[in-house]
Amino acid sequence: MDNARSPNILLGVSGGIAAYKACELVRRLRDAGCVVRVVMTRAATAFVTPLTFQALSGQPVRMDLLDAEAESGMDHIALARWADRVVIAPATADLMARLAAGLADDLLTTVCLATEAPILLAPAMNRVMWEHPATRGNHARLLERGVRMVGPDTGGQACGEHGAGRMAEPASILQALLGGAPLLPLQGRRVLITAGPTREAIDPVRFIANRSSGRMGVALAEAAREAGAEVCLIHGPMALPAPAGIRNIAVETAAEMAQAVLQEIPAADVFIAAAAVADYRPRTTSAQKLKKTADTLTLELVRNPDILAQVAALEPRPFVVGFAAETENLRAHALEKMQRKHLDMIAANDVSGGRAFGTEDNALTVFWPGGERRFPEQPKALLARALLALIAERIEETRASEPMETGR
Ligand code: PMT
Repeated sequence: MDNARSPNILLGVSGGIAAYKACELVRRLRDAGCVVRVVMTRAATAFVTPLTFQALSGQPVRMDLLDAEAESGMDHIALARWADRVVIAPATADLMARLAAGLADDLLTTVCLATEAPILLAPAMNRVMWEHPATRGNHARLLERGVRMVGPDTGGQACGEHGAGRMAEPASILQALLGGAPLLPLQGRRVLITAGPTREAIDPVRFIANRSSGRMGVALAEAAREAGAEVCLIHGPMALPAPAGIRNIAVETAAEMAQAVLQEIPAADVFIAAAAVADYRPRTTSAQKLKKTADTLTLELVRNPDILAQVAALEPRPFVVGFAAETENLRAHALEKMQRKHLDMIAANDVSGGRAFGTEDNALTVFWPGGERRFPEQPKALLARALLALIAERIEETRASEPMETGR
């Protein structure tokens, strides 16, 4: 291979549900400057059409070994020589078995036998198939022969089971294929976070607020930076200093927080609302300190803008993560908030009995449309890392299932 140019990548796609993620892989490979040619097995075409890969790769897609026109010039050998690297994603149990046996019963396996290029497989299958002794044996034989593997990952599977067998994410496959420093999960993303309480003034010395310290939001800002993101933290008056080296905007009221968020949001890819924004503010703020002349005092409160809902209603909008602070019916209230505010994800915490507000530790149950994950009680710094990793995972999955532009 000429070191000055990006490698020619032959992408093999075999027939599994993870084939849709190979579309994202083509897009990323092309972004990295590679020329990509796709060879599909017949079964793969039941999951994604050849036209999709043709449009994404900008190259003809091949499926048949016995295609008289394409093979008039011994195209399978030409393809095998053309490739600088071969990657098969997803690699099904059947494909691994045929490669391990050295079969050449379709175009993809034939090219794999005929190429001198390194081969990388991204296995994807049901967890029982992955653990089956036959698959374990094929895996071992392929590794012995110098075939490299990326994944599979462990997690929820299309079949509804949980275990090892999910295809590695496109970012991991890209890294395994092209090398370089491992990509941080939020590398290149811009994350906007709200933290702490807001204060709604009654008079020059009194205000309505809550027990939020800002710890959860600060931990999220630090974890997002660690994950490679460019971070902006908009916070009310906190019990701790704003984190050094992270752009932060200090506000006092919900209205100021809303204004700052709406100003920053066009530059954000992800919005995380960890602030405990006061839902109401006094209708009027007395210019002078209120005198305690009467036995009772009635304050009239009016609703503050719902910052989270406003952001989620924008078009285009970032990936929107809300929090839910609940003292009862955590799950039902959190799911209702997620649906009503059209969120991509909600992190629910039980704030009864002095939990979560102002504490060092917290526990979260995170919901997204179609899924949930529980993070047990732990220091907020660790919890923030776990939540950011989940956000990065969800963004990858959401992006991979988005419709893609053609002609790239
Ligand atoms: O700051 P700490 O001491 O570390 O405590 C952390 C925390 C308990 C404050 C945090 O984990 C948390 O739960 N934050 C959200 C608190 C809250 O106001 O929850 P809520 O259920 O009332 O609001 C739902 C969501 O709407 C939240 O994302 C909130 O930021 C957002 N919201 C609410 C009202 C409003 N006017 N605008 C909003 O954006």
